[in-house]
Amino acid sequence: MRVLDKFDLKGRVAIVTGASSGLGWRFAQVLAGQGARVVVAARRTDRLKTLKGEIEAAGGEALALELDVSSTRSILAALDQAKKHFGALDILVNNAGRALEKWALDVSPDDWRAIMSTNLDGVWFAAQSAARQMIEAGKGGTIINTASVLGLGVSKITTPYAISKAAVVQLTRALALEFARHDIRVNAIAPGYIRTEINQHFLDTEAGRNMLRRVPQRRFGEPEDLDGVLLLLASDASSFMTGSIITVDGGQLLDIS
Ligand SMILES: NC(=O)c1ccc[n+]([C@@H]2O[C@H](COP(=O)([O-])OP(=O)(O)OC[C@H]3O[C@@H](n4cnc5c(N)ncnc54)[C@H](OP(=O)(O)O)[C@@H]3O)[C@@H](O)[C@H]2O)c1
Repeated sequence: MRVLDKFDLKGRVAIVTGASSGLGWRFAQVLAGQGARVVVAARRTDRLKTLKGEIEAAGGEALALELDVSSTRSILAALDQAKKHFGALDILVNNAGRALEKWALDVSPDDWRAIMSTNLDGVWFAAQSAARQMIEAGKGGTIINTASVLGLGVSKITTPYAISKAAVVQLTRALALEFARHDIRVNAIAPGYIRTEINQHFLDTEAGRNMLRRVPQRRFGEPEDLDGVLLLLASDASSFMTGSIITVDGGQLLDIS
């Protein structure tokens, strides 16, 4: 077997949450490009239809599904529809997320709940439900959570977001430990600052430029910078990896001065 064959995803079924923009959009294209049949899921279905069209135009297979990860009912419905269309899942990319920039003293109970319900509750319930589907189908699988460098370190005005991502880091490890016996691997990508809609207003501000000076590689990332790590974790190339948190941040976490 050629080493590169290990990255082949032909015959695999994947779902990407938060596929309507940014990282999720790119993740779906990359998985489809390697042969996976990809379910693209989010709330903005008009965008998902465009993405599905792009994947199909490139020769891939996709299904667009409306999904609100803050609703357990919506998650169950999407996973059920995905299974009916393509068969049981092999790959879950648990990527939907939202940000909040507020000083801790200004965060309201509703702000807190909004972040946690999407970034933590949604990731937890999607992982649990996808694992149940994989186990019921009698096959293993791989779950990839999108954490953040802010799950590993903190910065000002991001407290609820950072806490939600730290929880995703620990959730990744806890589920990896329990799911290994079912041949389900659970890993996380912890990106640094990657240019997407989530941070487009921040990166070009004075604070964003100050942040850039603290990135050793002196640039922000682009969604394409995650292609390699995504394919590694989604494919058999990482068959002995579980519970790993992989940073992709231009070295940002290295310098704590
Ligand atoms: N960009 C970065 O620098 C960076 C760094 C570290 C981690 N991350 C993480 O990467 C992930 C993707 O973010 P991004 O940078 O690609 O930002 P983005 O372009 O704003 O994408 C966020 C995605 O999440 C979806 N989403 C939000 N709330 C949702 C909900 N309740 N149900 C379903 N989908 C929902 C959005 O879709 P709809 O609005 O259509 O539902 C959208 O597709 C997030 O988890 C984010 O925290 C990003």
